[in-house]
Amino acid sequence: MSVITEIEDLKRIYRRKVPKMFYDYCESGSWSEQTFRENCSDFDKIYLRQRVAIDMADRSTKTQMIGQDVAMPVALAPVGLTGMQHFDGEIKAARAANKFGVPYCLSTMSICSIEDVAENTDKPFWMQVYTLKDDDFMQRLFDRAKDAKCSAAVITVDLQLLGQRHKDLKNGLSAPPKLTPQSIANMMTKVQWGLGMLQTKRRFFGNIVGHAKGVTDGSSLTTWTAESFDQSLNWDRIRQFRKMWDGPLIIKGIIDPRDAIEACNVGADAIVVSNHGGRQLDGALSSIRALEPIMDAVGDKIEVHLDSGIRSGQDVLKATAMGAKGCWIGRAYVYGLGAQGEAGVTKALDVIHKELDTSMALCGHRNINGVDRDILMVPKGFSGDWS
Ligand code: GLV
Repeated sequence: MSVITEIEDLKRIYRRKVPKMFYDYCESGSWSEQTFRENCSDFDKIYLRQRVAIDMADRSTKTQMIGQDVAMPVALAPVGLTGMQHFDGEIKAARAANKFGVPYCLSTMSICSIEDVAENTDKPFWMQVYTLKDDDFMQRLFDRAKDAKCSAAVITVDLQLLGQRHKDLKNGLSAPPKLTPQSIANMMTKVQWGLGMLQTKRRFFGNIVGHAKGVTDGSSLTTWTAESFDQSLNWDRIRQFRKMWDGPLIIKGIIDPRDAIEACNVGADAIVVSNHGGRQLDGALSSIRALEPIMDAVGDKIEVHLDSGIRSGQDVLKATAMGAKGCWIGRAYVYGLGAQGEAGVTKALDVIHKELDTSMALCGHRNINGVDRDILMVPKGFSGDWS
């Protein structure tokens, strides 16, 4: 068995084990995938300042995200179809996050439902909602999240319509996935994945089917997804959603400082700088480039997190040094989940934690809460001066 020392190792195993259709879904950006690539490659343009002969003993990566204690400033991002990457994937990922001491955020487009995850885990999780037209469904989602004791709601504001991902169209990956002879043949080669899927009843969108008006099966789900996302969304509508949920609220999908200011005005508790993992506007700035202007605009008014492009503890350290109070990982934990189930998610978190802890020490810090921009060397013009 190969030794796993980095997130790329988990990705290699994941690729072997999970049907191509779901691997491609995870590993795609929209159109040319420029933003998808730059989310990662822009981190490499930032350097860390090595310091020596500074006491590095007794370190801590413990901190808080939206007032909640976390073992390190990392959360598991909402990822659609997680339960297709591994059977009962959402429950397994949530359990790994709970044990590690980091937040887990469940996607509306998950396979396991809110209730399922709540019944099978013992700590509160965060619930992500899209901005949908149907007020009753929206209110019910927030109510269900409240009944499940979710400790925050996350509104995704960058997906009123879908950025095109070529591979998904070619593979027939839609909601629900369309099975082609090729995808069936490919699935039959993924024996362990298939045996897992056979032992669970959770194979369909648990938050939607039986809950959204008229959605009872695959074809009604296709119609519902095509019609439900609200293309006329505006900030007043987001204010209405704020009133539907009285707990901590996080707004996810902000890349421009003007939108960050709007999100503050809505009364959110935190925003997530995110371009949806490069899956929406291809050509948008990478999240790490977008972070600093957003910090300048709202950093003293609201907690700012970063999502998209995080694959290592060094990435977490860089974003933290730029002011992010938390980093959301999506693909990095899905690789682990697809590779080894719950143990793989734990492995991904272990890898990132070790990288974060050691790199923080080598920058001369013992406590993540003391890390600031002084540890970074950022090229001039990195974040902007765009015309
Ligand atoms: C859904 O949010 C997706 O990116 O596929």
